[in-house]
Amino acid sequence: MSILLTGGAGFIGSHTAVELINAGYDVVIVDNLSNSNEKVLNRIKTITGKYPKFYKIDVSVAEDLCKVFNENNITGVIHFAGFKCVPESTKIPLKYYRNNLDTTLSLLEVMNKYNCTAIVFSSSATVYGDKNPVPFKENMPVGGATNAYGRTKLMIEDILTDVAVASTDFSAVLLRYFNPIGAHPSGLIGEAPDGIPNNLMPYVTQTAVGVREFLTIYGTDYNTHDGTGVRDYIHVVDLARGHVAAIKYATEHTGVEAINLGTGNGSSVWDVVHAFEKANNIQIPVVIGKRRPGDIDECYASVDKAAKLLGWRAELTLEDMCKDSWNWQKKNPKGYED
Ligand code: UFG
Repeated sequence: MSILLTGGAGFIGSHTAVELINAGYDVVIVDNLSNSNEKVLNRIKTITGKYPKFYKIDVSVAEDLCKVFNENNITGVIHFAGFKCVPESTKIPLKYYRNNLDTTLSLLEVMNKYNCTAIVFSSSATVYGDKNPVPFKENMPVGGATNAYGRTKLMIEDILTDVAVASTDFSAVLLRYFNPIGAHPSGLIGEAPDGIPNNLMPYVTQTAVGVREFLTIYGTDYNTHDGTGVRDYIHVVDLARGHVAAIKYATEHTGVEAINLGTGNGSSVWDVVHAFEKANNIQIPVVIGKRRPGDIDECYASVDKAAKLLGWRAELTLEDMCKDSWNWQKKNPKGYED
């Protein structure tokens, strides 16, 4: 009995593989390595003592995926595979629709063929759009995503809901991530963005290590306690443990549940910069810039549903996130590159 991780060599996938193995699951990773590195597999082995079974395939190629299902007894799937760069999705929307939707459709068809009925999906808080008040609750209306990436998440949530309505033995958990940062405390696995990072924490750590000259804060006129954007940062190890709870839930229930994975706490850009400086005793050079199009004032989660349904709550602090992000960056200044 194995859990299949599509896109399992990526940032969140690799941390989830570690937590699943630690919890006693057998893990099969499929990944086309388009935005990840095979070296992560050895690192997972160093942390857990187990080398995860790995197939370098594209999830959208159904024949290749069938081989994986033929050779393994897959009892549940955690679906991470997909493109995730918000600005790129605005410039090349078709690339996002084609890839994110194709991978999901071929995965669902193959799961159906092999009678695999449990899926956990990497969704995003972006589905709440910009009209809902914080904290975002799972029963709030979704929609109004400001980019193609976000719309693929909304579409896939709808696809999974339709499949669950059509087949009563099907189970889907839609995990709406807030802002995952941090890294495994070993410093062996972490986030390795390709090129210039779009997200705050990798930009902060690359500035701290000297790869970037300064951090630009995108706007100080937001309607927040200090004018900078507020987000719900969650340690990737906590997030990974949320997946372990979610796949257990999915294999024991039927139907669809959307569940937030966040801490319930909002931190501003300044809060993160100051927490990083304090935790690691490093100064981050900062420049104030203009607002980034599409950014909202505040985004943080209601966390009660995850606690009630999954028995899971985030435990690690912003200080842990800052220390572990820096530990990873220091030990791997070029990510997984030599
Ligand atoms: N920010 C900066 N400077 C930077 C990068 C970010 O000031 O160099 C600010 C942003 O303006 C925002 C905050 O830091 O206020 C967080 O920005 P991120 O890019 O790290 O994260 P976002 O909240 O914009 O986006 C994240 C994920 C998306 C997902 C979204 C859902 O990256 O995939 O959360 O809420 F869609």
